[in-house]
Amino acid sequence: KERELILAIETSCDETSAAVIEKGDTILSNVVSSQIESHKRFGGVVPEVASRHHVEQITLIIEEAMSDANVGFEDLSAVAVTEGPGLVGALLVGVHAAKAIAFAHQLPLIGVHHIAGHIYANQLVKELQYPLLTLVVSGGHTELVYMESEGQFEIIGETRDDAVGEAYDKVARTLGLPYPGGPHIDRLAAEGERAVELPRAWLEPDSYDFSFSGLKSAVINTVHNEKQKGREVNPANVARGFQESVIDVLVTKTKRATENYPVKQLLLAGGVAANSGLRNELETTFSDSEVELIIPPLSLCTDNAAMIGAAASLKFRRQQFSDYALNGNPGLDL
Ligand code: KG4
Ligand code: ZN
Repeated sequence: KERELILAIETSCDETSAAVIEKGDTILSNVVSSQIESHKRFGGVVPEVASRHHVEQITLIIEEAMSDANVGFEDLSAVAVTEGPGLVGALLVGVHAAKAIAFAHQLPLIGVHHIAGHIYANQLVKELQYPLLTLVVSGGHTELVYMESEGQFEIIGETRDDAVGEAYDKVARTLGLPYPGGPHIDRLAAEGERAVELPRAWLEPDSYDFSFSGLKSAVINTVHNEKQKGREVNPANVARGFQESVIDVLVTKTKRATENYPVKQLLLAGGVAANSGLRNELETTFSDSEVELIIPPLSLCTDNAAMIGAAASLKFRRQQFSDYALNGNPGLDL
């Protein structure tokens, strides 16, 4: 086929998404249907509710992505889908849809790792240059991933407990903010004063690992202690203290990694990459650095299928195809 067009599908968590990507770097369409409203009242994503929504939405979302891109199934080069990690019932909806399309139209099938997708979202912004480092920060992941060359992933640091987005969401809940709490904490932090000092988990001096559960507990304790004394904490000040602590650790460790590995580029990936405090701090820290900082637009930071299409393009060129045994794999390794 003369054009390299990949239909990509992402259903690993609470976003049903389909996209058409040309040559791995051009978005022809990227349709995202969020289920946040359905999960809000439970204060988090309910797996069974997520699966049901994906089933209801998937066909419509794929049709919309195809018509937005103005292409037919016969024009496609391949079908790609997130195979893991994620919620198994949610993953299965996307995997089965992709298999059905691949079978019906005799197209190659490509399984993509969700985090590879978040990383390659940056390829939709800029041409990637190796070696590079990615700070992956999402609701399920907090990782520093070193890539010496294309397709080679080395996790040099990761969270030992909560993912950073998870900590944001739990702290938000403690402060009585709606799910998902990340954006609310981010907004409040900008209004708060520097009045609440919270701990930073540096771990061993040479470690690139992270830990956020102690910080999360410190916030919960601070709020409860004040309540017991009959006082109310100022949520904005707590949000500011929490966010400063998170960003300090993330940026300091990331900076050290860029000094100890020969990286040309630093990429930011995952839903927490939408955090304005984190973006600003990284921009300041790397403003006169040799390392080129790439931060995708918000729409490519949170879960979307365009990023899956970008990652799939590399596998397409290497003919790394999946067969019909492809399955949802919640614990898939990068
Ligand atoms: O990557 P993502 O969309 O889904 C996962 O794969 O986990 O990330 C969702 C996470 C949620 O925890 C949400 O609270 C967080 O990203 N998030 C933020 C912001 N926007 C979204 N966290 C901090 N600040 C934000 N502005
Ligand atoms: Zn994600």
